[in-house]
Amino acid sequence: MTSKEVWRPKVLVTNKETPEKGVNILRQKCDVIFPENVPATRDEIMKLVPGVDGIMWVGHYALNGEVLDAGAPTLKAISTMSAGMDYVDVAEFKRRNFPLGYTPTVLNEAVADEAVGLMIAAGRRFHEGLLKIENGKWQGGPQWMLGRDIKGSTVGFIGFGGIGQAIARRLKGFDVGQFIYSGRNPKPEAADLGAKFVPQSALLKESDYVFIAVPLTNATRHLINAATLRQMKPTAVLVNVARGEIIDQDALVAALKDGTIFAAGLDVMTPEPLPVDSELLKLPNAVIVPHLGSATIRTRDDMSVVAAHNVLAGIEGSPMLSPYP
Ligand code: DGY
Repeated sequence: MTSKEVWRPKVLVTNKETPEKGVNILRQKCDVIFPENVPATRDEIMKLVPGVDGIMWVGHYALNGEVLDAGAPTLKAISTMSAGMDYVDVAEFKRRNFPLGYTPTVLNEAVADEAVGLMIAAGRRFHEGLLKIENGKWQGGPQWMLGRDIKGSTVGFIGFGGIGQAIARRLKGFDVGQFIYSGRNPKPEAADLGAKFVPQSALLKESDYVFIAVPLTNATRHLINAATLRQMKPTAVLVNVARGEIIDQDALVAALKDGTIFAAGLDVMTPEPLPVDSELLKLPNAVIVPHLGSATIRTRDDMSVVAAHNVLAGIEGSPMLSPYP
């Protein structure tokens, strides 16, 4: 490099299909490289890490000290393009005081839209109805395929952060009877939404609909299990837009089969991708979507933009737009 040339950092974006909106922000100041394959294997990504200044880590491969070691001494910043950080060894980043960004908030609305969709689809038996049609079992009649009402219902949120609150805002128009939520602490925003803080056991017992909207941590892994499912109403609908491992999936399958609960709407499951022979797929009362919560054009654009700004700021040594706290 001659003295007149401006230094251009090198940034690895780990998925070639990352929205151009974010990638173009990086390109203004950096040379951007991608792995060849879509999706790339983690090995392929790891081979590209040495020598880069920043990484936009798109996807849920383990992001840990191994990546930081491979990137040393040039690597200065990493941002994920996700809200959930369960695949990131955040303790290791903290220990090394290494700049780490993520992209919460911009996806709240899209995930909430999908959660309401799953609530209605599961409560009103959409999947079972389609199976009836496909199998020539359309019977009809006043008692056929009756589902659950939302009007007057108790809607419970396990976790009432940005996504839980966005779901509640949407449901304001559905004449819900009451909103309740559980979590570590009461939320100041809950008062405006008319949501009451309750212990988790009360939430499970009283809710007609239960939304799971908490991060996956050691404290929330298998938070829904055979025992907690038994606390729920047999008429209850469970919706999970967080992470599959928050539910003990075998226990859920059993509960859906024997009527412990009425139905489930799941955006997330264990493992992902779900094997085609999974028991979950055999259940008429499980509505399953392949992890599409944030999958809208605008939301993915916004996530890529936030992640790009995070990486640029981190490389420059400035505070990130959305640092992981
Ligand atoms: C998230 O942002 O955590 C979503 O699950 C998509 O990755």
